[in-house]
Amino acid sequence: MKILIVGGAGYIGSHMVNWLLRDRYDVVVYDDLSSGHRDAVGESIFVEGSLLDVEKLQVLFATHQFDAVMHFSAKIEVGESVKLPDVYYTNNVVGTINLLHVMLQHDVKRFIFSSTAAVYGQPEHVPIQENHPKNPCNPYGKSKWMIEQMLEDYDRAYGLRSISLRYFNAAGAHPEGILAERHDPETHLIPLVLQAAAGKREAITVFGNDYPTHDGTCIRDYVHVMDLCQAHALALEALSSRASSCVYNLGNGEGFSVNEVIAVARSVTHCDIPVIYGERREGDPSVLLADASKIKSELAWKPRYSELSVIVGHAWQSLLSVNRMNSDSVPTSNSSKETTIVKED
Ligand code: UFG
Repeated sequence: MKILIVGGAGYIGSHMVNWLLRDRYDVVVYDDLSSGHRDAVGESIFVEGSLLDVEKLQVLFATHQFDAVMHFSAKIEVGESVKLPDVYYTNNVVGTINLLHVMLQHDVKRFIFSSTAAVYGQPEHVPIQENHPKNPCNPYGKSKWMIEQMLEDYDRAYGLRSISLRYFNAAGAHPEGILAERHDPETHLIPLVLQAAAGKREAITVFGNDYPTHDGTCIRDYVHVMDLCQAHALALEALSSRASSCVYNLGNGEGFSVNEVIAVARSVTHCDIPVIYGERREGDPSVLLADASKIKSELAWKPRYSELSVIVGHAWQSLLSVNRMNSDSVPTSNSSKETTIVKED
């Protein structure tokens, strides 16, 4: 089978490319390299291009007969989406409409869409099932929810079969350290905590410690990037036989507070991680927890790396590999130092 991976040079997309190449699929990557890395796509066929360039998409689909498309390409920063909604709706919504339009013209009707827990907004209860009310509270989450709703209509009208996968907190990296999370700027907790452990930033700022949780910091459901890939591979198989489109949550159903993540990172890295307790970040729900029983029962998804120490360990190894590639100094243990805890003004 020949699969198009849009956004295959990015963090999750590049792990998926690696997974599919290992499983002997033919893989073509289409990526504008706005945040991805050319060196992350392995032996796949790489085409540089934007989803806003419809002519280039036409040429791509005329050149290759794709069996299915996986779409990882999106702007993903919640805070930025509030400031720059135009960029988010153009990139995430218009770009996806263009992709679906060209797919239909070329009779490609299997689609796997990277969605997000952000479609739920502030949850009314946890764990969250797929039928929980959708109330996205920022343009990023809204852009993903718009596409999910469109996909229902495209199925009904055109028979375009899709599976939307709502990721909770994607984290970790390839267990062999061959791929890494390389966002610039980085905004996600685990890579930032590990940068602090590596001495690449002075401290990690915890966004609020007055939430209604056991230690006052936000609780999240971290899911390993390889387990996300496994879910995509199962979804790809399911699309061949499935009569209609559907949606699945992807998470482990186990929550860790920000303080707990930092504690696990200290124990994995044996490094000091200075902490600053700062203000809450706008729009952060106190607890996000997935109920992923639907994909477990329907597609037999079995997360392999559900332990947080493993997720953090793999992310740490990949950060060390990137440091080595860049010939940076590799941090050694500094666990003897006392942890700094200060309150930010
Ligand atoms: N956090 C900090 N300090 C930081 C960064 C994050 O304390 O420097 C906290 C956040 O406040 C949050 C937790 O760590 O409580 C996790 O934050 P991330 O930014 O790593 O992840 P989010 O939970 O904000 O975002 C994830 C996905 C988004 C998705 C969202 C759904 O990355 O794509 O869940 O709410 F939209």
